[in-house]
Amino acid sequence: MRGHFITFEGGEGSGKSTHAATLAQRLKALGLKVVLTREPGGSTGAEIIRHILLSGIAKPLGAETEAILFAAARDDHVRSTIMPALAAGQWVICDRFIDSTRVYQGALGQVDPRVIRSLERVTVGPARPDVTFILDVPATVGLARAKHRRGKGTVDRFEAEGVKFHEALRKAYQELAAKEPKRIIMVDGRAPRDVVADRIWDVVKQRLHPEQAMLAEQAVP
Ligand code: TYD
Repeated sequence: MRGHFITFEGGEGSGKSTHAATLAQRLKALGLKVVLTREPGGSTGAEIIRHILLSGIAKPLGAETEAILFAAARDDHVRSTIMPALAAGQWVICDRFIDSTRVYQGALGQVDPRVIRSLERVTVGPARPDVTFILDVPATVGLARAKHRRGKGTVDRFEAEGVKFHEALRKAYQELAAKEPKRIIMVDGRAPRDVVADRIWDVVKQRLHPEQAMLAEQAVP
């Protein structure tokens, strides 16, 4: 049986990584096999490309080249990490995936949607997410959280963009969610952490039935 694939999306400081980890913990606590991963990265080849992208050295090459680099990283990640786990019936939770490319490079970078779609066709194949959570927070809130978390560290390529960029990002995510209401769930990321985590858990339980999956796994001799 194919496993389950859940992705988390949102702007900087939206709480994606925290909630991806919390969901992974909850599933593991049921005895399920979970792979928690992230993009760009999540496999040896993709982590190398991550350094290039987040350092900003690819920025002068333009958004289309960056989209191609994100796609190259994704291709390795899907083939080396995601597909093998799904084929083994495991739960894959990924911090950022195709929607980040659609929003950062597509909507904001103005890369032609046809290019974005072609890259998806090549890289993603059957590894389509079952459910995607977008954590929605105002840009100022997210940037303040990201700054707090960073402390004295340096900003990366995309954190360095201004409030306007991050407001546009939020809007682009909202538009994306409206286009695919079956797959994408918007969650108010300003709510207390436990409230957000419970909302996510309710959706996963309703849609993907982890308790039943666990019982089915136990029944396998
Ligand atoms: P990361 O350090 O993982 O931070 P975050 O907590 O924001 O996820 O940085 C990933 C950055 O790469 C983030 O700013 C979004 C950007 N990105 C894209 O622009 N396109 C993509 O396809 C992906 C996966 C990420």
